[in-house]
Amino acid sequence: MIAIPITPAMARRIEIWAVGRLVPYAKNARTHSPEQVAQIAASIAEFGFVNPILVDTNNGIIAGHGRLLAARQLGLAEVPVVVLDHLTDAQRRAYVIADNRIAINAGWDEKALAAELGDLAVAGVDLALIGFTSAELDLLLAEVEEPAQDVAEDVPEPPATPVTKPGDVWQVGKHRLICGDCRDESVRRALFRNAQAAVAITSPPYATQREYDPSSGFKPIPPAEYTEWFQAVAAGIESILAPDGSYFLNIKAHADAGERNLYVMDLVVAHKRLWGWMFVDEFCWRKTDNGVPGGWGNRFKNAFEPVYHFARQSEIKFRPEAVGHVSEDCFDYSPDNPVSKSGSGLLGTGPRGESASLPPEGSQGWGHMRRKLMDGRHEGIARPSNVIEVKSESSQGSHSAPFPRPLVEFFLLAFSDAGDVIFDPFMGSGTTMAAAEVLGRIGYGSEI
Ligand SMILES: C[S@@+](CC[C@H](N)C(=O)[O-])C[C@H]1O[C@@H](n2cnc3c(N)ncnc32)[C@H](O)[C@@H]1O
Repeated sequence: MIAIPITPAMARRIEIWAVGRLVPYAKNARTHSPEQVAQIAASIAEFGFVNPILVDTNNGIIAGHGRLLAARQLGLAEVPVVVLDHLTDAQRRAYVIADNRIAINAGWDEKALAAELGDLAVAGVDLALIGFTSAELDLLLAEVEEPAQDVAEDVPEPPATPVTKPGDVWQVGKHRLICGDCRDESVRRALFRNAQAAVAITSPPYATQREYDPSSGFKPIPPAEYTEWFQAVAAGIESILAPDGSYFLNIKAHADAGERNLYVMDLVVAHKRLWGWMFVDEFCWRKTDNGVPGGWGNRFKNAFEPVYHFARQSEIKFRPEAVGHVSEDCFDYSPDNPVSKSGSGLLGTGPRGESASLPPEGSQGWGHMRRKLMDGRHEGIARPSNVIEVKSESSQGSHSAPFPRPLVEFFLLAFSDAGDVIFDPFMGSGTTMAAAEVLGRIGYGSEI
């Protein structure tokens, strides 16, 4: 076996040096925000200085600039150091980068991580010491709190002859589901009787893109005929929506022959121009798992879908505080505020790193503006944006194109109240009804 000097002699020895002896590398390309240095300092205070700084024979730092900044912040007089004397100058400079870069390339087993963090939280460990942001911790721990159900155990095999016939209405607790075509007025009347919905939310079948069970009676619609086909759907929603209700439509056209089909654009325009809806806004559902992987000749993989918001009038039921978060970084829009004269509420930006620090007194121009603005910051409920970040996965069984439940929950929280009726004309696996159940709303839906 060839002996490789993997552990040079000097690397076997840890020395204790006065902090002032260390010389930062002038060309160091790695940056350390004040927040990250504070994290390192907190970690050293909790766990000890367990990771020595690497230096060259001229006392120059090879790895550990952040640790030195943290040591200074903690007022440490001495730090542990390992001297490396076996590297050429080029190797030293390359390692300064490699030491940081290679570490970034590691991944996480998110299940194991979430389980470990959950255990640590139960054991009383302050998770802020670990380095994740509180938003990341919320996401990770949410998975621990709500373990995915073993759906296969809960869902029985469908019988050879279906029990449900067209026209049947199932009462599912306080929710109602009808087997029938949502474009059919008699189906809608049987479902709703005299009720009204506060929110309609749906993802209709795509045009020709997907295959459905032919026994359901559904026939793929050619893109050129989609708007005409959809007219009865939109009319049905209008007939049961409360005057201050909101209707959310999630659909993204497929691409073929190197371009995306325009039938969804036609459909959105038809809502406004032909059928009289107000086009309130377009939300972006960003898929935090980065969407469906794939390699196409002239475009990237799809990691977002639009959700179009329509209403019959501009005064709608709107509950932004239900989807807001507490922030110390809120300010009020006002005619006196030079940088935010207009707007409808509070804005919170969350942690902003160095840019969040107050510009020095006497600053001119933009610095002066920011000083004024930031002086007025106060605690409040910050509103989210119209970009909703949700993983595309669903816990609703094996449907080919289900909503993730948190996506539906966002719209129900922001645009309805507990006890309101929520309608999904294309109920699919029942995600809208499940979200309604979880949030104390009443889910109504149809499915063929
Ligand atoms: C994209 S999926 C909806 C998935 C649903 N959002 C979920 O979370 O499971 C569209 C559904 O519409 C159903 N469908 C198609 N045409 C219909 C119609 N005319 N009336 C009611 N449902 C229909 C299909 O069977 C399919 O399950």
